Amino acid sequence: MSKKIIIGNWKMNPLSPKQAENLFRSILKAIPYKLKANVIICPPAIYLGFLKTKNYKLKVNLGAQDAFYEESGAYTGEISAEMLYYIGARYVILGHSERRSPPSAPSGGGEGESNLIINKKVRASLSAGLVPILCVGEKERDESHQYLNFIKKQIEECLKGVIKSSVSKIIIAYEPIWAIGKNAQRAAVPKEFLEMSIFIKKVLSDKFGAKAVEKTKIIYGGSVNPKNTADFLMEGETDGFLVGRDSLDPKKFREIIKICEA
Ligand code: PGA
Repeated sequence: MSKKIIIGNWKMNPLSPKQAENLFRSILKAIPYKLKANVIICPPAIYLGFLKTKNYKLKVNLGAQDAFYEESGAYTGEISAEMLYYIGARYVILGHSERRSPPSAPSGGGEGESNLIINKKVRASLSAGLVPILCVGEKERDESHQYLNFIKKQIEECLKGVIKSSVSKIIIAYEPIWAIGKNAQRAAVPKEFLEMSIFIKKVLSDKFGAKAVEKTKIIYGGSVNPKNTADFLMEGETDGFLVGRDSLDPKKFREIIKICEA
């Protein structure tokens, strides 16, 4: 069985470096020395540098929550994929729904990023040596299954121009918007995820060929908690999880990791 991937998306938390250090320490303390899973912590970018120095036993990997597509230059406020690599990130979340959706959308004040922008970020991240964690997900499900076309378009447009040999490195996180955050209607059920991950694999193999996408990991995100982890692993056959709220609670996060390791 391949290594499960557990990603903690801290979003815009916690408030101070001290709190970030404490949270990071508690997570490191709570997880076993010889981890069988691949745990990736994605804090706000300003904490990456100093958390790297606290990751002395290299138990976890560090990731960013976004990356800009140009290497350097006159882009006020942006952080490039190369800069993130130099500071210690090895993964990067791209296309999270909180960045895709316009500020007025109920899923939160994002920047309204398009597939085109995300595609540039995917390609720039790959060339900087970062592993993209590409988020896809529909806002709602309709009976005529139009949402499947929506997901297909997200994948095709976000991965345009990516070379075949890079596709196995990319992690696809299926995060239905209706299942994310404290306003979530509900978490998806494992069967919904399984169907979607089969669909995503099909879209990927139609685009890149079955061989090239054999190793591409597809993970689930949206209200992941210690209670639904086992079901998503067994019935949903997920390769791992993208965890929001419960990654800020060391006890719950550890519980999720423990279940993945078992
Ligand atoms: P959640 O967030 O686990 O709090 O639902 C998941 C995400 O947005 O990545």
